[in-house]
Amino acid sequence: MDFDLVVRNGTVVTASDIWESCDIGVKDGTIVAVGPRLPVAPGAEEIDAEGAFITPGGVDAHVHLSQFYEATVGVDIDRSIVTNGAIPDPENFVGDTFDTGTRSAVAGGTTTVITFASQMRKDESIIPVIEDYHKLAKDQSYCDYAFHVIITNPTPQIVEDEFPRMVDEYGITSVKLYMTYKPLRLLDYQILDVMYSARKLGITTMVHAENADVIDWMTQHLEKKLMTQPYHHGTSRPPINRVICLAELMDTPILLVHISGGPASKHIRDAQTRLLPIYGETCPQYMFLLADSMRKGDFEGAKCICSPPIREDKADQDAMWAGVKNGTFTIVSSDHAPSKFNHPNGKQRGLSDGNLPYGKFRLIPNGLPGVETRVPLLFSGGVLSGRISPQKFVEVTSTNPAKLYGLKKKGSIAPGFDADLVIWYPQAKFQSFTLTNEMLHHAVDYTPFEGIEFKNWPRYTIIRGKVVFIHGEVVGKMEYGQYIRREKSLLAGPRDVWLSEWRP
Ligand code: URP
Ligand code: ZN
Ligand code: ZN
Repeated sequence: MDFDLVVRNGTVVTASDIWESCDIGVKDGTIVAVGPRLPVAPGAEEIDAEGAFITPGGVDAHVHLSQFYEATVGVDIDRSIVTNGAIPDPENFVGDTFDTGTRSAVAGGTTTVITFASQMRKDESIIPVIEDYHKLAKDQSYCDYAFHVIITNPTPQIVEDEFPRMVDEYGITSVKLYMTYKPLRLLDYQILDVMYSARKLGITTMVHAENADVIDWMTQHLEKKLMTQPYHHGTSRPPINRVICLAELMDTPILLVHISGGPASKHIRDAQTRLLPIYGETCPQYMFLLADSMRKGDFEGAKCICSPPIREDKADQDAMWAGVKNGTFTIVSSDHAPSKFNHPNGKQRGLSDGNLPYGKFRLIPNGLPGVETRVPLLFSGGVLSGRISPQKFVEVTSTNPAKLYGLKKKGSIAPGFDADLVIWYPQAKFQSFTLTNEMLHHAVDYTPFEGIEFKNWPRYTIIRGKVVFIHGEVVGKMEYGQYIRREKSLLAGPRDVWLSEWRP
């Protein structure tokens, strides 16, 4: 058969199956055959997987690149750094831009990222925002990419006129809303405006569900008691739930992003048991870390500040693993929100109130890096540690994010899918190692996962039939990544079941 590339002798895993001694034939970037001992015409490139696992390339559906973390600090933001309709000065990005972020992605087995185009100015049309992010990403991405749009002001013009354009012209079929962070948050009235339009257009609404008033109240009162060190970021953000009721009222699918603990997981599970189209996302930081990581001295705890916070109790961590296993969590994303530690506008901002030598959590930009470690953590700490099956690993890191967000050619190893593959090391050949930040390929000066042992790591990352990462080295080109227009979600949508006589 006429292939450009044949990967030989792998243990091929999909979300449903495992085939040993299996070959994969690739032509023009697409998988065209999967099976044992594929006959090959001369001239095809061959890679011997030596019996190792081959999994679909990771799809990371929650990645912040070229973004201002300013908005996550508990003060009004300096909007002069954002110009309407023009690309913001990259000097203001205190973390990864598309080049460094996607370089890091491929080095960790991720072949597609869905990043955010963020409406930063309250009065801003989203069309120039999308155009700006296209300019920021074009020829700057090592892997394939798509966009969600963050909506901070859903005017009638945006939800009625621009949402249809976003779907039809740009192939963007999801938006993210915040219920907290002063510059970003929407009121319930505005959330209903978005859901109403999203339902009509088949848009998936991602919700950052924390309670702004509770957080503001707690923060004020903690500050009065001088409880301001990084650790109390967690104290200020207790688990609370509201948005599922809004989604049920509007009969529209939502994904609850970055779920951190047992109580929220239970709310989602209960909603799913009632057959509501409510999807859940968790992240490795909630599966592998606990809140004591925020107690580290020398302000090191700031490195683990993200929202929602990493929880205190081991039971919350266990609930994340249980939720992955029982299907409560549809996807595991990184929420890669990289903010440098040693930068005055990075985590060091938390020390800018000189009266408080141990820092003020309200001033610390939220978020942590993880696009490179997500897939290896789940493989090593999940599959190889016996916590989840190889198929479940594929489902939550690749297949489900692709289905949920309408990436039709991503997320599986089967004829017709893009040849996005991760070839792991044969286990007998791999020497476990302890992670340090120097091993990673992002532009951030720390990793919250420093010190964790890895029992395997991607040996090859392949995107559309091309090797982009091999034996620790990124060999792909920055301009190789393609923008992917997305279809509507392939997972269950509205049910046409109503709480009252109300119909949209
Ligand atoms: O703390 C986080 N997660 N920061 C990034 C912004 C967000 O809410 O996803
Ligand atoms: Zn969020
Ligand atoms: Zn995020």
